[in-house]
Amino acid sequence: MTRKILLLPGDGIGTEVCREARKIIDWLNNNRNTGFVLDEALLGGAAYDAHGTPFPKETLEKAIKSDAILLGAVGGPKWEGLDYSARPERGLLGIRKELELFANLRPAIVFDELADASTLKREIVAGLDILIVRELTGDLYFGTPRGVETLPDGTRRGVNTLVYTSPEVQRIARVAFDLAKKRGGKLCSVDKANVLEATEMWRQEVQKIGDEEYPEIELSHMYVDNAAMQLVRNPKQFDVMVTTNVFGDILSDCAAMLTGSLGMLPSASLGAKDTGKCNALYEPVHGSAPDIAGKDIANPIATILSLVMMLRYSFSLMAEADMVETAIKSVLAKDLRTADIMQPGMKKLGCSEMGDAIMKELDSAKAAGVKVA
Ligand SMILES: NC(=O)c1ccc[n+]([C@@H]2O[C@H](COP(=O)([O-])OP(=O)(O)OC[C@H]3O[C@@H](n4cnc5c(N)ncnc54)[C@H](O)[C@@H]3O)[C@@H](O)[C@H]2O)c1
Repeated sequence: MTRKILLLPGDGIGTEVCREARKIIDWLNNNRNTGFVLDEALLGGAAYDAHGTPFPKETLEKAIKSDAILLGAVGGPKWEGLDYSARPERGLLGIRKELELFANLRPAIVFDELADASTLKREIVAGLDILIVRELTGDLYFGTPRGVETLPDGTRRGVNTLVYTSPEVQRIARVAFDLAKKRGGKLCSVDKANVLEATEMWRQEVQKIGDEEYPEIELSHMYVDNAAMQLVRNPKQFDVMVTTNVFGDILSDCAAMLTGSLGMLPSASLGAKDTGKCNALYEPVHGSAPDIAGKDIANPIATILSLVMMLRYSFSLMAEADMVETAIKSVLAKDLRTADIMQPGMKKLGCSEMGDAIMKELDSAKAAGVKVA
């Protein structure tokens, strides 16, 4: 059986962290007979440099043919002066749109070993396990009209449009309810229904789906400003949160800091299941980190955890997913850290050293014949 994975390393540290994930994929092929077939393509700034567009046709074609995609990150100062349509981030938005990846899953889990790395107190974050489900193809990032115009009096007017349709809200709500069902049975929908009509409609549609299809799920609603506050005050009150594209973008970065570092946060973006094939793209939450790119000091764990999500959601390789996750925990338990999660008295590793340390744990587990659940 072959499983086609497309690698899109992108820009900056994207290429560095993907290289480490690739080592794990090769290890799984060699030791677990997983049959992954890897292909690679350009996206973002690297694609713009080579083809004059951040999202080349060849990349889309390869993406459509693949079973799952692993992306590093795109962007960087080099491309900041370009027109918006040519910027690396448009490549990312483009692939999400083309593959209809409307559901972005962002877990925020605090590993016991890292509870002290958070800027919040240990008792607030220890044992945290929440999942933010962010709608990914609507809202201000895609709504029209958009742009900046110069008015007759010489002043400028910038416009973006917050738009959602009820089917768009219903499909993301169902994804979130289904996930809540498999987890703690609680869903909090986040909006700004008191001032934004589009999100008042969001609230009504989520409530309707809850009442009609998921009466067993404990549904609550929260304004986004309160949700931001509650996330740092008492994050463990949440199980699954579902929200719009823009609010999800901000809240998930906020949740990121609960876990200690952006370098620890994976994500999955999933398409509709009813098309016969579920498109899926896995990527770390962080960006291309131009400040540390090229130095081999980035934390590859968010990308490797994204690969773990791929093993679970796209390939149902639960034992292999558990193996890689356990290897990461073992490395952390041995006090090995990349710079972003470094603590006094621990040993600092570079990006490739961290990848190698995880591989070493996988080798040791195999040699010891460790059984996986
Ligand atoms: N999904 C994506 O591809 C994505 C997401 C966010 C930002 N971006 C792009 O990335 C570029 C930089 O954006 P930014 O600086 O706002 O966000 P960023 O996530 O790249 O970096 C924010 C901070 O976190 C650190 N950091 C991020 N990932 C890390 C890792 N794996 N290990 C250690 N430290 C890490 C960085 O060094 C930086 O100090 C911009 O061009 C932006 O548009 C891309």
